[in-house]
Amino acid sequence: MAFTDITSFKENGYVVADLYNRSSLDKAIDFCFFCLKKRGLEVASLEDYHNLPLNEELHTSIQVELTTKFWELGLQKAIIQDNIDVFRHLLGEDLYIQTQPHFRISRPGIDSDNIGYHRDTWYGASAYEVSVSIPLTPMREGSALQVIPGSHIASESEIPYERGSSEIEKGSEKHLVGFAYEPLFLDKELYTGLIEVCVEPSQVLMFSLSTVHGQVINASQKTRFSTDIRLVSASAPIDFGRVVRGKPYYEFFSSSPANEIGKKYESANRTR
Ligand SMILES: [Fe+2]
Repeated sequence: MAFTDITSFKENGYVVADLYNRSSLDKAIDFCFFCLKKRGLEVASLEDYHNLPLNEELHTSIQVELTTKFWELGLQKAIIQDNIDVFRHLLGEDLYIQTQPHFRISRPGIDSDNIGYHRDTWYGASAYEVSVSIPLTPMREGSALQVIPGSHIASESEIPYERGSSEIEKGSEKHLVGFAYEPLFLDKELYTGLIEVCVEPSQVLMFSLSTVHGQVINASQKTRFSTDIRLVSASAPIDFGRVVRGKPYYEFFSSSPANEIGKKYESANRTR
């Protein structure tokens, strides 16, 4: 049985958990190599990606391709499904899952690869939702995401932000891969509360969408490849009808055994 440290999650707003089945994670990592190789780009490790001869246009097109192919192939969903007990510990049995999760590539020293420190509640998300950050390369000292432990239950007035400006256009490729067109930045006075959370591939970092998280710059010598997908309990008081890019933002993902029977029974009786 998988173990997720629920006490730490409730106290700190985030938790690192071990995956017990790596098979879909390994397929996802292999798929990244395949996409690069298809373009004639070969690296011994995804962490060496920044050494490839790429201009910004090519880099963005690679990130867009990985984002959309991961959706089509359901790679993030497969990783969650393979390790479902890890997530049920935090969220319960009946779950919805994000349909268009993000794929991140953060190269060393390039601040435009990151979106800075923020709470997702600033952008309309709720504290009932959980982000699962899945590293495809090690999130190490300098390249790991940072969080403010305990920020998840602070009021919005306790965690102020500043409005920034951005060249990202709504609906652009950069917007598709997760960059904000109206960015919001954490008040710099709160930076002292941030800590890095180092996570290996074979682990996940889960945090409430009200927890301050993010990265300003990858200060390591290695590229970070990661993806993140949101999960929420079916009983959470949120709008499940929300649509993004013509698709529902969330889709139903897993049922408790009793609810599964109930749904099958209803379906069987509807078709008579
Ligand atoms: Fe975020």
